[in-house]
Amino acid sequence: MLDKYLNKITQGDCLELFKDIPDNSVDVTFADPPFNLKKNYSSYKDSREFQEYLDWCEKWISEMVRVTKPTGSILVHNIPKWLTYYATFLNKHAHFKHWIAWDAPTAPMGKSLQPAHYGILFYTKEQKGSKIYELRYPHKRDRKQGYLWKDYGGKKDLLHPFGPLVSDVWTDIHRIKHNSKRDPHPCQLPIHLMDRLILLTTDEGDIVLDPFSGTGTTAISAKRLGRQFIGFELDSKYVEISEEKLEHTLSNFKIGESWVSFYLNEIITIKDKDWENLSKYFLIPNPIKNIDFHRIELLNKDLIPKEIENFQNGKTNQQDKFYKIESKKTTEIENLDSAIILTKNKINQAL
Ligand SMILES: C[S@@+](CC[C@H](N)C(=O)[O-])C[C@H]1O[C@@H](n2cnc3c(N)ncnc32)[C@H](O)[C@@H]1O
Repeated sequence: MLDKYLNKITQGDCLELFKDIPDNSVDVTFADPPFNLKKNYSSYKDSREFQEYLDWCEKWISEMVRVTKPTGSILVHNIPKWLTYYATFLNKHAHFKHWIAWDAPTAPMGKSLQPAHYGILFYTKEQKGSKIYELRYPHKRDRKQGYLWKDYGGKKDLLHPFGPLVSDVWTDIHRIKHNSKRDPHPCQLPIHLMDRLILLTTDEGDIVLDPFSGTGTTAISAKRLGRQFIGFELDSKYVEISEEKLEHTLSNFKIGESWVSFYLNEIITIKDKDWENLSKYFLIPNPIKNIDFHRIELLNKDLIPKEIENFQNGKTNQQDKFYKIESKKTTEIENLDSAIILTKNKINQAL
């Protein structure tokens, strides 16, 4: 049954498609559902009543828990408001590990504190025996001078050459800001965010299931990291875009025996346990305290996968065509919205 869905994005309603997935059959489930914020999706209406939205969410969250293996993890991305309800539900059916705060400006903008993070709930199916890896990311540096951003004082000798362990606050991954770098989709995730979650919870060959696949970010990340994937997506246009991107994706985000996440020709995330194998591919400052002003460097730049220069966000030239049409549509809708607001204001002033 599973084979039919393996390494494909299947068009359809995830609640229907989940019925075909056996219990305890996939290693990780990740969901980035519609946030009920009236987003302009191509076919899905993102505005349900409060309780209707939560009831619907409980259905697919239950399915995520059901299909996840006993060693596996359940990850859900959303704004904090909805995550508080998800957590109450998940606490009854799985085991809380972390609330990952992904530092990025979000909606809705309130009149009190400005929302500045998305959350990713990280649960495991069982309390013990779950597959979880420690990760490392590169040291943060001053962009102009290149010095370490944090003052480690007299402790620089003790620094890890690659960088610190990843915590539950992620400040080094940015939302896709430029339309030229995104697909015609209102809320595509940055692919190296998915890389990090996949490295955190899986091994080579493991299966990652995403019931709200969008334009295939999870699938592409899984494929380039040598994992298998199952994607569900309601909108056939997003499925088409994903398929085209997947055709161009190679399973090559690897140095030696270790899978790593690249972004803009830099390695962004590694598994801590892989450093022993990876270190021989780097020029490491000696003495190590010089890391304060010397980055470690890959000895051979040819180790960087070639296609990432032309295909950084998984976007192909073909999609530029799609993008231009979609962004024109979005601009037209936005212009219309502004015109309505302006008219309403004028009417209010006149009254
Ligand atoms: C927040 S987006 C996911 C974006 C995705 N993470 C990416 O990076 O491209 C949510 C997606 O869920 C899809 N969707 C909405 N309802 C669905 C359903 N019942 N079954 C499957 N997909 C659905 C929407 O079409 C939309 O593409």
